[in-house]
Amino acid sequence: MMRRIGVLTSGGDAPGMNYAVMSVAKAARYYGMSLIGIKRGYNGTLCRSHNIADDMVELDLDTILDIADQPGTYLRTARCLDFLKPEMRAHAVNNIHEMGVEGIVVIGGDGSYHGAMELCALGIPCVGIPGTIDNDLAYTENTLGFDTAVNSCVEDIRAIRATSRSHDRPGVVEVMGRHCGDIALRAAASTGAEICLVPEVPWSIQEVADRLCRLIDGGNPRATVVVAEGAWDSMQPTDWQHYLMEQGARAHDDSAISTEYLAKVLKYKCKAEARPTVLGYTQRGRQPSAYDSWFAFEAGNLAVNLLRNGIGNQVIGIKDGRVYYMPIQMALQQKREFNLSLYNMINSL
Ligand code: F6P
Repeated sequence: MMRRIGVLTSGGDAPGMNYAVMSVAKAARYYGMSLIGIKRGYNGTLCRSHNIADDMVELDLDTILDIADQPGTYLRTARCLDFLKPEMRAHAVNNIHEMGVEGIVVIGGDGSYHGAMELCALGIPCVGIPGTIDNDLAYTENTLGFDTAVNSCVEDIRAIRATSRSHDRPGVVEVMGRHCGDIALRAAASTGAEICLVPEVPWSIQEVADRLCRLIDGGNPRATVVVAEGAWDSMQPTDWQHYLMEQGARAHDDSAISTEYLAKVLKYKCKAEARPTVLGYTQRGRQPSAYDSWFAFEAGNLAVNLLRNGIGNQVIGIKDGRVYYMPIQMALQQKREFNLSLYNMINSL
């Protein structure tokens, strides 16, 4: 039976991380284990601060209860490139042993899961909770923070549609998701947006302009285009090069490709006053939704139960609406399936 465990948050912060830490703290207290908060992701395990409390500190349940439903992460987060070096990981393992930490709950995305797998291989049992707004982990129906991020986008896109409607002009809205279009897809479907662009499906400016022009001609001058931040990667290059040349701009200037740029092209091609908005980090900084809080609560409790039963090398997710766990490696090998039929529905109806 473990007497002391650790918890860390790593990668981009996600709404619900604090709630998950609270749940871990409650379960640890219930089972008579002490809990060490590891600061700034895996950086804390390297103990490089002047004051050890900036790296690893015993967590006080009352403090955690006070901030449980706050956005961001109380433990702080960071990406830790040094953790890719075997000698640094060996150093981390020594520090973890020295602190008497016998297992770790890792809250983060797939990069954090790779770190957890390495620690497991070095004898530190870890259990992962999928904390990332992107929803880019195939083994779970939802990642922690995704629902809140989508709700944040929905609130903002509704506001943008209200002003677009008032002026009868289109809106182009960029949401987060560097490699995964799920936030864009769900937010577009939930707001009645007419066009959705994602990194998973190739698209061209010509097609987007054609659809927008058809919408305008058909009596809808206020359509919304929702663009995932990573959608530029799946854009077919010929159209924008052609347009930039028409405008006398440098065709190889990649910095010109942006939401503002897309709005400009649509303005030019469809003769419509399209307006761009980049929603940005507000999506990460919201208070967790009820759904994310529920997931964080069950996941934190399950993580502690697994560790106290000596089961490491696992990640927690949602399947058929229920919280479950599976081996990290198996989870990372699963292939994501993009919801193409929803995508087609949005872009054709
Ligand atoms: O947390 C995931 C995410 O928000 C991605 O959607 C985005 O591309 C990335 O993080 C941005 O991270 P940062 O700017 O904090 O490095």
